[in-house]
Amino acid sequence: MPQWLKDAVFYEIYPQSFKDTNGDGIGDFQGIIEKLDYIRDLGCNALWINPCFDSPFKDAGYDVRDYKKAASRYGTNEDLCRLFAEAHKKGIRVLLDLVPGHTSEEHPWFTMSQKAETNEYSNRYIWTSHCFEGAKGFPYIGGESERSGVYVLNFFKCQPALNYGFLNPKEPWQLPVDHPDCIATREAMKDVMRYWLDQGCDGFRVDMAASLVKNDDEEKTGTCAIWSNVREMLDSDYPEAAMVSEWGNPQLALKAGFHMDFFLNGRGNGYSTLMRDYENQEDHSFFKKDGHGDITRFLEDYLPRYEASRDNGYFCLLTCNHDTLRPRYNLDETELKLAFAFIFTMPGVPYLYYGDEIGMRYLELPTKEGGYFRTGSRTPMQWNHEKNAGFSEAEKDSLYLPVDEADDAPTVAAQESNPGSLLHTVKSLLALRHANADLQADAVFEPVYAEKGAAAFVYRRGALTVAVNPSGGTVTVPSVGQKSVIYSIGNGRWEEDRIILEPQSFLVLE
Ligand code: GLC
Ligand code: CA
Repeated sequence: MPQWLKDAVFYEIYPQSFKDTNGDGIGDFQGIIEKLDYIRDLGCNALWINPCFDSPFKDAGYDVRDYKKAASRYGTNEDLCRLFAEAHKKGIRVLLDLVPGHTSEEHPWFTMSQKAETNEYSNRYIWTSHCFEGAKGFPYIGGESERSGVYVLNFFKCQPALNYGFLNPKEPWQLPVDHPDCIATREAMKDVMRYWLDQGCDGFRVDMAASLVKNDDEEKTGTCAIWSNVREMLDSDYPEAAMVSEWGNPQLALKAGFHMDFFLNGRGNGYSTLMRDYENQEDHSFFKKDGHGDITRFLEDYLPRYEASRDNGYFCLLTCNHDTLRPRYNLDETELKLAFAFIFTMPGVPYLYYGDEIGMRYLELPTKEGGYFRTGSRTPMQWNHEKNAGFSEAEKDSLYLPVDEADDAPTVAAQESNPGSLLHTVKSLLALRHANADLQADAVFEPVYAEKGAAAFVYRRGALTVAVNPSGGTVTVPSVGQKSVIYSIGNGRWEEDRIILEPQSFLVLE
């Protein structure tokens, strides 16, 4: 296990929208380099950058055309390597986004695979035996290739599935996982990983990590075997490299070899009850002041998975990601402060999505690069009140996506000069986390006060006690023996035998 993860805090960057330095309206590697001090001062010491490889961008880069080439709109491979080096000088690690389950339909492997004549890449993708033979329940495309057969998709139409084999093949065209051509796919992906790791990248966020082997069983035996094989390579050759999976099943993902797995937003799941319960008929989000939520729905989902997986790695909480509505959609600034206070004092490795630290809004926008509803969470970072919010010198209509133009749109500059801002709260929370091993990834987490229908939640982290009351009423909870407050938001206090939490307050007690 890479030791740096113990005190890691990640910052996710959607490179299109972070900082444009050459005036073409789209973010670039140089922009990230120029903002490394900002990221470090915020308290983040690791980055996850969404796919930045050559692509036709039909799914924002999750349709890779060349895994070993940086997308020219962001810069060159040299620029990306310079980003690794500059980040390292500031103590920041960099994870790239690996998309192992599918490529773009424009990837040269796919061009070769669709040829009528058999070649080295014929089995790199999943093809049926005949142009009129469907794919037995898998989504597929037919009629576009020279080869007689249809091919299986992994996501959008532009994303044919790579072939890692089938756990229990049922058709002649379904190859077993140990077929040499399926092993070759795995080795090709390891080669991509080595390529970037050798140049200074610190690991990968892995897209749709559970999707590799088809007809896999409940335990994902086939897919897990691939990740264990990858982990062996990392342990022997790149022991400091870290891998985080987009899986949402830490019991499987961490055992298979990932160091971290995300608790992803899913309608009605425990994570969604914290900030995004609006997908239900009545919004009882725990961090909504008038939501009348309680923490038990989160804990019922989180705790068993945290406990079952904690010896193998980290089950991670995020403020948001590029696929999810920004938390500001539902929560105001004060509510966000409390939600982030919780996320940044929980075990595992926290992830902050760019712009959430100032409470950037979700904008209703037409789709861009396959984003659909997700587009509204991908708008340009708001640095200041100058042209295009300081994101770009380009003309407004040539920006990748429009900037939030509301009069009260939050910016980094405005919040930097306001000590009561969300940005300052995020900074102070991350500083607190870095200063206390008990608030970092490993220290034990244990609920102390968590009741159905109760507005407050109290939990232990190592020797510290954390108490949060997101509601509009004052709550009194039994004391747990600790006396001094080392951090607070709002008004709360300790008394002889109780903790008094005034409306919308948060305390860390020693
Ligand atoms: C993941 C990515 C998402 C992408 C999809 C297909 O869910 O996070 O943005 O569209 O995979 O690669
Ligand atoms: Ca640019």
